[in-house]
Amino acid sequence: MGYRIVVAGATGNVGREMLNILEERQFPVDEIAVLASRRSQGTEVTFADKTLKIQDIEQFDFAGWDMALFAIGSDATKKYAPLAARANCVVIDNSSLYRYDPDVPLIVPECNAGDIHGYSKKNIIANPNCSTAQMVVALKPLHDRAKIKRVVVSTYQSVSGSGKDGMDELWEQTKAVYNPTKDVPPKTFTKEIAFNVIPHIDVFLDDGSTKEEWKMVAETKKILDTKIKVTATCVRVPVFVGHSESINIEFEEFLDEDEARDILRESPGIMVIDKREDGGYVTPKECVGDFATFISRVRQDSTLDNGLNLWCVSDNLRKGAALNAVQIAETLGREVLKKG
Ligand SMILES: NC(=O)c1ccc[n+]([C@@H]2O[C@H](COP(=O)([O-])OP(=O)(O)OC[C@H]3O[C@@H](n4cnc5c(N)ncnc54)[C@H](OP(=O)(O)O)[C@@H]3O)[C@@H](O)[C@H]2O)c1
Repeated sequence: MGYRIVVAGATGNVGREMLNILEERQFPVDEIAVLASRRSQGTEVTFADKTLKIQDIEQFDFAGWDMALFAIGSDATKKYAPLAARANCVVIDNSSLYRYDPDVPLIVPECNAGDIHGYSKKNIIANPNCSTAQMVVALKPLHDRAKIKRVVVSTYQSVSGSGKDGMDELWEQTKAVYNPTKDVPPKTFTKEIAFNVIPHIDVFLDDGSTKEEWKMVAETKKILDTKIKVTATCVRVPVFVGHSESINIEFEEFLDEDEARDILRESPGIMVIDKREDGGYVTPKECVGDFATFISRVRQDSTLDNGLNLWCVSDNLRKGAALNAVQIAETLGREVLKKG
């Protein structure tokens, strides 16, 4: 016996990946419903060998469905997640709406799967921000060994992190560079993204940081350890899929780079590719479609007593969103609902 699963936002970047990953990981699905806004009602998506028709979320009755994987943005989530949760359908949400709610667990299964039991307070489980998800997968085993004091991270985030519209904007602006008769002004991003980088993701906060940077700080604390200090600079780059991060870590105890590499190699969800030669590291293009978080360039930071640097790359639509959501669904099934 399997589960009756809802995928809300099935026409979007994350929703489509959720369907792919449910199939790839052979999630025990008895029945699946695919939802989006009224705009998409009746359009078709594929799941395994089936063609499914999109239903309007506004007309959908969540009663009798086990889990709903949501990827519809915070505004729509605010309206529909409580309806699903009240109908006893557990919501696994990709938006930021519930991530900081103390009554909602924020889960990265490699790090804090045990927190999942907190789902029952609201029938909602939150999925972290894409940049946080891959970073905490890398930090967790190192923190367990040498206690992390402080993290300095700079991100290189792909345009798919801004949804379908962000990918279209990079594509259209790139074409326009070669066809200057057509002007494609910035819409999703604040400046032209083609052949450029933009040190600004989400809104500015009073202290000069951005909400994206704040999310990395708050979510790392909630998932790993409130004592870890994090400072982040989040940057959008003209890459379609795959987020990269340069991470500097200060530990309480000394951790040798070779030992760190060995620890990471043995840890769940991580693939270490770290040869000190031309091309001996992973770039975002190579991680697309993969489940792993890739680690390269592990090296001692000689400016600190107990410091390491590393490079961390992952498919933001997978570990950063859809894969993590499906892993949460697997954990919920295994630990709580026990149907599959
Ligand atoms: N992309 C990432 O790397 C990433 C990572 C982590 C979290 N997330 C989060 O995941 C969510 C989806 O992101 P995305 O990248 O997939 O965006 P997207 O490609 O723009 O897709 C948005 C999806 O939401 C649906 N939607 C929008 N408004 C709706 C409404 N009022 N009612 C029902 N459905 C509605 C859209 O349906 P229509 O086609 O009908 O408009 C579409 O299916 C966002 O909350 C985002 O913050 C994304």
